[in-house]
Amino acid sequence: MTRPHPRILPYGTAAIAEAAVLIRDGGIVAVPTETVYGLAADATNAAAVARIYAAKGRPSFNPLIVHVANLAAAERIAVFDADARALAEAFWPGPLTLVLPVRGDSGIASLVTAGLDTIAIRVPRHRAMQGLIAASGRPLAAPSANASGGISPTTAAHVAGSLGGNVPLILNDGATEAGLESTIVAGRTVLRPGPVTAEAIRQHLEHHPGEGRGPVGTSEVTTRNADHDSPPTGPRPSPGGREGGVTAPGQLESHYAPKKLLRLNAIEAASNEWLIGFGEVAGDVTLSASGDVVEAAAKLFDLLYAADANERPTIAIAPIPSEGIGEAINDRLRRAAHR
Ligand code: TXA
Ligand code: MG
Repeated sequence: MTRPHPRILPYGTAAIAEAAVLIRDGGIVAVPTETVYGLAADATNAAAVARIYAAKGRPSFNPLIVHVANLAAAERIAVFDADARALAEAFWPGPLTLVLPVRGDSGIASLVTAGLDTIAIRVPRHRAMQGLIAASGRPLAAPSANASGGISPTTAAHVAGSLGGNVPLILNDGATEAGLESTIVAGRTVLRPGPVTAEAIRQHLEHHPGEGRGPVGTSEVTTRNADHDSPPTGPRPSPGGREGGVTAPGQLESHYAPKKLLRLNAIEAASNEWLIGFGEVAGDVTLSASGDVVEAAAKLFDLLYAADANERPTIAIAPIPSEGIGEAINDRLRRAAHR
């Protein structure tokens, strides 16, 4: 039985302590990170991890990201090569997830990796997620804290709206900073564009040429838009359903989706549309009047939630340049518009 409303506690020592008790008891807690709010559980406890899947209604073949305090903790769970260590040192703590071979003695529940021999791992920067990791003393598996297929939450109110009583406790620490999910990198392939751009990754690999990955001194970084490709590290295809047949884990075609239809690259609104503007396209509301893609990323999901909630039946959104984090914005918009 689910309760209709979650408890929402403001960030603070008492809230972290209470959340940590829930985590150690095998429960789930929604907690902010610098990207989006996550739905956290003890990654070493299979029953706890199962509660995440149940609360989200997430297909169990879709693996989760594990959050740890620092690189040393990550190295107890995953095997790092020179490239991975270079990226970790450059971008952790921060919005970068690395897909790496999982260690046999990691202690991570196999439900977290959905049976893969790789694991997605990151060191978050946010004080609430770091506080919860420290207070619980556990690595925390945490997908975005939304119902499966929905828009990732950037506020506690989004989490409550999407998951309702399926989550007992939400730590509220305001709107998240980046507003888009972490960049996911496997080897030299970007599986999901995000706040750490492919260009930034390329720059940091330049000085750390990987062994046996092409000519030494080159640093080719490819973005594999998983809508069309399957990554080398992907799991075997899984049986049907709306989210079935997935080749690239989590990179489902219809994902991050508002409930309403979404029209991309709109310059003007039709009479039934609510237009989300950017730069010169003013819209009913704007992602960034000055045309700043970082500001737009931070506001994107909040405005999509708002668009779903208002009275206009259809959403339209202005064109966003694919520069910097704009690449990740357009990745999310393509998925949000896909039907
Ligand atoms: O910013 C974020 O990454 C947020 C916060 C809470 O950390 N988390 C997040 O998790 O976006 P989630 O579960 O919504 O997305 C995780 C993605 C999925 O696309 C999943 O398939 C992929 O990571 N993933 C997990 N393990 C993987 C693996 N071993 N190989 C490839 N992709 C993997
Ligand atoms: Mg998600």
